[in-house]
Amino acid sequence: MGTRLGDWIDERSSWREGWSRVFLARIPRVSWGHTLGAATLISIVVLMVTGLLLTVYYVASPTDAHQSVQYVTNVVPLGWLIRGLHHWAASALVVLAIAHLIRVIAHGAYKYPREFTWYSGIALLLLVFAFGVTGSLLPWDQRAYWATQVRIEIFATVPLIGDWFARFIQGGEELSGLTLSRFYAAHVWLLPLLLVGLLWTHLRLVVRHGISASPRERRGPRRRMWHR
Ligand code: HEM
Repeated sequence: MGTRLGDWIDERSSWREGWSRVFLARIPRVSWGHTLGAATLISIVVLMVTGLLLTVYYVASPTDAHQSVQYVTNVVPLGWLIRGLHHWAASALVVLAIAHLIRVIAHGAYKYPREFTWYSGIALLLLVFAFGVTGSLLPWDQRAYWATQVRIEIFATVPLIGDWFARFIQGGEELSGLTLSRFYAAHVWLLPLLLVGLLWTHLRLVVRHGISASPRERRGPRRRMWHR
């Protein structure tokens, strides 16, 4: 925004400084692999938008949950599309986040000074799995019920805290309506809040350290020019 309006806002917010730090920063020559982080971010945005729309109709009660999902799929205009996008974006997110992690390992981008970027990435990946576990119970059908039952039994085998943890997330001795409420609260409130905080940290660190050059670039003359 090179206009007077842009100047007016900049005097009061210094937005140009942030803009140029993110979008005008000099970066090394990047590969297709470097787009995986952004692709992961796009699938998170799709999940947030479609998830928000799904909450308009979803009812987190054992008597109505299944029917509300059927209603979204068969009756609500474009409901099938919103639900389908949410479903496929969730699968894409897992694949893309793991591919991004592999790219980071392959390029050695986890090393100094990007250790905290790496740790925040690991925490993000764990959150992604937690979203998957809590979300898959929400359709409240036979598959959702038994898949969750098996997962909770697996959690319960963790030494020392397993039993307590399984009872805590279940809300009692067995999977019930209380489990559905807890998983719903985690899926739409707790996990998204943690996700936004962690994403902010992750992206701040990426901007702070700049994108690392690929190993081949680092060996070449460009390294001396651009790589920090
Ligand atoms: C799950 C959601 C995640 C999102 C939305 C995300 C997003 C991004 C973005 C946009 C970048 C900059 C572009 C790029 O290098 O691809 C980046 C860089 C980075 N990410 Fe992630 N990331 C996620 C997960 C992870 C995971 C699981 C790890 C590894 C444990 C990780 C570690 C890193 C590191 C070390 C960098 C710096 C790479 C470099 O400087 O070349 N991220 N991330």
